[in-house]
Amino acid sequence: MDREDTFAAVRVDDDAESVARAVAEAFVEKGRAAINRSGCFSVVLAGGSTPKRVYELLAGGDFRPTLDWRKVHFFFGDERCMPPDHPDSNYRMANEAMLRHLDVSLQLVHRMEGEREPHESARRYEDDLHAFFGDATWPEFDLMLLGMGDDGHTASLFPGTRALVEQTAWVAANWVEKLNAFRLTLTLPVINHADDIIFIVTGAAKAEILARVLGAVDDEATLPAQLIRPTAGTLTWFVDRAAATRLPSKLVPEASTK
Ligand code: 6PG
Repeated sequence: MDREDTFAAVRVDDDAESVARAVAEAFVEKGRAAINRSGCFSVVLAGGSTPKRVYELLAGGDFRPTLDWRKVHFFFGDERCMPPDHPDSNYRMANEAMLRHLDVSLQLVHRMEGEREPHESARRYEDDLHAFFGDATWPEFDLMLLGMGDDGHTASLFPGTRALVEQTAWVAANWVEKLNAFRLTLTLPVINHADDIIFIVTGAAKAEILARVLGAVDDEATLPAQLIRPTAGTLTWFVDRAAATRLPSKLVPEASTK
């Protein structure tokens, strides 16, 4: 599968810091446009470690004054099944890096309840999404931030797991054998219905999987990250040079390399 002739754009910046800054700039730009358009900005935060620097920048002096945070609704793409104060909680990471510094009211932060029984949490989160998006067939988030694991998973859609084929539910309690744990995750149709999707991938450890996901012509689109195909929106990969080393040169637009 070759992304060159499709909807995915690739932006390569020098290092993780410059990628984080570029994503923070895109976040604010899309947030301001959404607020101007509809009065609010619905954004899905990615978990893991890569986005943490983006969140820290957004809560910092350069970016914090540039967006009306009272109009931003924060959602989560996935969550580990654990309390929100657990060191591995995606909510805890986002809260410590950004949310608590923005002083946003709790009504604006739509947390996945990792502390509850997974299927109940998934149902409750889906109810929350329906409350926000009304009777939409699929929720249309303004911005969807995603990371990618070195196995090609994204959100908590791991290769070979049941949630990967879920085409009806908006939120799934997904058993992940390799982790011997449930994960809460938005489903593929929900992710793909977002207006703008941004992948944030940095570091040499992601170079091989990134090349597979983006450039390999002999791979079918079977890896979860390969199934991210916006129905009507945009998809942009924000990557650093270290992660881009294995990408075919045709996928690395000169303009984005400084
Ligand atoms: C999670 C994430 C997951 C993450 C990737 C990459 O809960 O782990 O949502 O999809 O984005 O595993 O994680 P890193 O950014 O830590 O490499």
